Amino acid sequence: EQIKNVDAVCEILDARIPVSSRNPDVDELTAGKPRMVVLNRVDQADPEGTKRWAEHFRAKGYAVLESDAKSGVGTAKFAGAVRELLADKLRAYAEKGMTGRVVRVMILGIPNVGKSTFINKVAGRKTAKTEDRPGVTRSKQWVPIDRNLELLDTPGILWPKFDDQMVGLRLALIGSIKDEILNIDELSLELISYLKENYAGTLAARYEVEETVERPVELLEAIAQKRGCVQRGNEIDYSKAAALVIDDFRSGRLGRITLELPEAE
Ligand code: G4P
Repeated sequence: EQIKNVDAVCEILDARIPVSSRNPDVDELTAGKPRMVVLNRVDQADPEGTKRWAEHFRAKGYAVLESDAKSGVGTAKFAGAVRELLADKLRAYAEKGMTGRVVRVMILGIPNVGKSTFINKVAGRKTAKTEDRPGVTRSKQWVPIDRNLELLDTPGILWPKFDDQMVGLRLALIGSIKDEILNIDELSLELISYLKENYAGTLAARYEVEETVERPVELLEAIAQKRGCVQRGNEIDYSKAAALVIDDFRSGRLGRITLELPEAE
């Protein structure tokens, strides 16, 4: 509904899962609009992976901005990047003498990609959350950036169906899906198996475990033992160890890790 009212659409993506954190409907809905993707959380993603994703999106005609919204790295380049993206349009306005026209950009992003943090940094303000709770408006929110630029903030909505099981899994790993509805044990095993294959040595370094074991569950067991995750009766507390590994991943303690790369798509 609002797309007709904006000059460009900007998707905030998680640099660790740039495809899984995109709403699959957006491409179709925004066809014909100048588009930008923000690869956010670059501080948590593998720099090599981010470089490849930036190239991937640029090749598809998107403007790309790399950002760490938490510390504000990259966010200052946003306004300039929008003007560059809309250069032809702005030139046409200038030729018609419409120099004061405000450029409007719709901001999209699924939960937990850092959309609010990004908008706050770009707008230089403290709080901005389009929340899904009573009393907080879910309608459109225009956020002024400067004299000629306004953002349309939208609620972070996660699409209800994941056709690809891996998409759901990656979204769960970055914390976009509530942990209460997840199987943390399974999630950690998937993460362990991915790390073992793509970031060999990471688990060994963090938990002082051998990565030579065959099955991910054996690695989880070793981590549990190293970290004293035991229940009464000296039984291994797999869930505690699983939560620990996931928390270490989410908080960056396992290093900078990208969970999907362009070629694999
Ligand atoms: P959302 O609107 O997309 O749902 O996400 P939001 O901005 O609320 O950010 C969710 C969490 O992610 C926040 O942490 C925020 O600080 C953090 N975050 C946002 N962008 C980045 C980034 O580029 N890098 C890193 N490392 N973190 C980022 P929080 O723990 O919920 O809050 P706080 O303790 O940081 O205030």
